[in-house]
Amino acid sequence: MDGLTITKCTGYTECQQLLQDNEFKEILEMSPTEAEFLFYIIKKFNPKNLLEIGIAAGGSSLLLLEAIKNQKDAVLYSIDCCNLYYRDKSLKTGYFAKRKIGSTDKWKIYTGGLAYEYMDTFDKKFDFVLLDTRHMNPGELLDFLMVYPYMSENAVLVLHDTAMHTLAIEMQRSITNCLLMSAINGEKYIPETYEPVYFPSKHPTERLHVNKRCVPNIGAIKIDNKLKNNIYNVFNLLSLPWYYFPETEKLSEIGTFLQKHYDKKYITLYESTVNYQLQVKTIKEEIKNTENSYQQMKREIIKMKNSINKLEREYLKKEFDGLSEKIEKLQASVNLIERKSI
Ligand SMILES: C[S@@+](CC[C@H](N)C(=O)[O-])C[C@H]1O[C@@H](n2cnc3c(N)ncnc32)[C@H](O)[C@@H]1O
Repeated sequence: MDGLTITKCTGYTECQQLLQDNEFKEILEMSPTEAEFLFYIIKKFNPKNLLEIGIAAGGSSLLLLEAIKNQKDAVLYSIDCCNLYYRDKSLKTGYFAKRKIGSTDKWKIYTGGLAYEYMDTFDKKFDFVLLDTRHMNPGELLDFLMVYPYMSENAVLVLHDTAMHTLAIEMQRSITNCLLMSAINGEKYIPETYEPVYFPSKHPTERLHVNKRCVPNIGAIKIDNKLKNNIYNVFNLLSLPWYYFPETEKLSEIGTFLQKHYDKKYITLYESTVNYQLQVKTIKEEIKNTENSYQQMKREIIKMKNSINKLEREYLKKEFDGLSEKIEKLQASVNLIERKSI
């Protein structure tokens, strides 16, 4: 064993049956191979307490529920920060899985908050975690730090969209799960095959697809106990550029929450990194404001130039009309004189 298993993961009939449903395929934010990989991981490790962060319509929730259907005592806990489905705000987060599954005690769904707002209420250690949220920093870096203390020894972590940055030119910021795939210690699993390009058909970025994918877009890590002593690997990544900013109040609450689980030196690191990122945010906003007022000034200058040109044209026309009138009068006098002298 050298730390990486590249695995074939086909042949799960229940998964293939689900994938025959076109409506399911449309809302699931995973390719068929990624779905089969997720199934393979569940069947291989047989987790009992599953945690999913990032529900959307509930595509991956439905897959996980199907995979644990016959596993006695296995329960899925799903968290999403949005109450409403982020692609269609007229629907609730998880609506699709709820409709398909109906009422079940195998699924507990929590929406409207970040992981730290729920973790203590579960009173559980999770042996399986799927992270599929923002894919941009700080995204899953913070999600992972929030859930890691609640993961059992040798739990399995699945990261989705580990190669999102390779899918389309405008997605090059979506590196977070690739970073985690490298930073977290443990035995790693990736699928052997993967579609060259996959993205839900309605996605606006489709036009910028790159035609080939160089690495799979999903991976799993059977977490090694050594991670406890290497958690700096994850905290350190927080200093990389952030592409969105959770509310300042939430960042401070996350800091308080992390204090309960990590050594003081990591909290100091977290706080100084967050302060740094907030300063960068302020500078970026200032640059954006300056750029906006520069553009506004340019637009005003163009408007003024246009008015000057108009005034110039009007003034010249008046002058021209005046001169023409004078010339006509003079010409009339000349004509009169000429007629008289004849
Ligand atoms: C890519 S979608 C999830 C797709 C879903 N796992 C599937 O395969 O069908 C991402 C979801 O994560 C949610 N989200 C984003 N950031 C989050 C965070 N930090 N914590 C919880 N949910 C988050 C979004 O509201 C969205 O519903």
